[in-house]
Amino acid sequence: MLTEPCTFVIFGATGSLANNKLLPALCRLEAAGRLPTALAVVGFGRRTWDDATWRERVLEMLRERMGRDFDEIVLTRFVQRLRFFRGDLELSDDYRKLRQFLESNPDLPANLVFYMAIRPTQFGEVGAHLADVGLNRREGSWVRLVVEKPFGYDLESAQVLDVRLHRHFDEDQIYRIDHYLGKGTVQNVLVFRFANLMMEPLWNRNYIDHVQITHTETQGIAQRADYFEEAGALRDMIQSHLLQLLTLVAMEPPASLEAESLRDEKVKVLKSIRPIPQSAVHAHAFRAQYARGMVHGEKVPGYLEEEGVVGQSTTETYAALRLYIDNWRWRNVPFYIRTGKRMGSDLSSIAIRFRHPPQLLFRDTPIERLRPNWILLGIQPAECLRIEIQAKVPGLEMLTRTVTLEAGYRHAHEASLDAYETLLLDVLVGDRSLFLRYDEVRAAWRVVDPILKVWSMERDFINTYPAGSMGPADANRLFEREDQIWRDTLSSGTEGSP
Ligand code: BG6
Repeated sequence: MLTEPCTFVIFGATGSLANNKLLPALCRLEAAGRLPTALAVVGFGRRTWDDATWRERVLEMLRERMGRDFDEIVLTRFVQRLRFFRGDLELSDDYRKLRQFLESNPDLPANLVFYMAIRPTQFGEVGAHLADVGLNRREGSWVRLVVEKPFGYDLESAQVLDVRLHRHFDEDQIYRIDHYLGKGTVQNVLVFRFANLMMEPLWNRNYIDHVQITHTETQGIAQRADYFEEAGALRDMIQSHLLQLLTLVAMEPPASLEAESLRDEKVKVLKSIRPIPQSAVHAHAFRAQYARGMVHGEKVPGYLEEEGVVGQSTTETYAALRLYIDNWRWRNVPFYIRTGKRMGSDLSSIAIRFRHPPQLLFRDTPIERLRPNWILLGIQPAECLRIEIQAKVPGLEMLTRTVTLEAGYRHAHEASLDAYETLLLDVLVGDRSLFLRYDEVRAAWRVVDPILKVWSMERDFINTYPAGSMGPADANRLFEREDQIWRDTLSSGTEGSP
């Protein structure tokens, strides 16, 4: 598909998303020669900067981020694309000025991308301001709006936001981004499942005992207390990223890889998730907050001591759920999902545990208990695909051990693409398959809404876990049986693999 020239406007150009993800991703696309020659990046921000100041700051930031070996010519070429526009998101007059700026500048192509790297509560308002000055549509050119997550604050506010955006923008102009869908391994889940015949017959309730989806981070909330206090871990990671991973693991084969077919199947999964009544929230969900502890050998403060967190906040930094998908394929197979900040390791993974073989053929041998098979999909830090099977230990005794079949599917010369690179390129070419449709977002809110409601009413107490641990032991009560435990590592061995 064609990347047409466009002006890429970033609202929140000096914020952490722009600096940590968007600008580096655009710069890497520059290095890969994927940006159209005429693409310009306009940073909309309140600082009293001019083009030169912004370019300088970005250059400095990129040099540090990309490392010494990064091509200086590419960096210079990239920053030449940057233009800074001083504006306040809340002032309607500044949008009028923005329009003038865009129209009076021959170097700024007419196709427009507006990227909302701002607080979620501002999406609707900014969309309305753009429409007020006629920037929502352009004769003979396209206008695309990229909306970050969380889309809304709960089911109701998501609905309000959707109606608000649709007042001014058509659905095909709206790109609801979930950067997890841009990650290599995540896309590989589809290939692994649907390009290999041997998996499909096993991929159901007859063979799979349970599925675990984990995202843990060693870092805390960094400088994002404002955002995190509003969001909490359930909204921040589970409602969006981790439920998306669940849809890819659980979906039926789509009719094609075309955007609508894929999204039709994903939404079916979300709609089939068994609703959790408010009275059952404690049986299905667990939340906790990090207390002081040690991470990478260093003392770190607890959540309540983080800058910007006020009072006795009960915002969760850890959330775990047990979900069921009520369809033929998955009925009664638990899906355990968890996420946590300031945990003992950085790990994003999907771990699928198989059932035990039906006949205890080895009962009268020294093999006490066979370990089940696992399929492990590592998303980060390492991208990997592992299958754990049992093999006999060489020697006279009938003993087994777990061996791992490892598919190193990335060759040394194949660079790994950052999720944002993939997705920004999709925005430029107009491919929405990896972006969320509103019915998906709505269905995902339906899943977490009862939990959010109960948690928001229970503000007096929250469990804690020491920073640097793998979360609170009490979260184990979500498991259906004693032989199910969290898979904290993707290496085989006795630890963490019942
Ligand atoms: C973001 C969340 O969407 O995803 C962050 O707001 C989280 O809190 C991040 O740290 C994780 O993304 P990644 O790509 O670093 O796994």
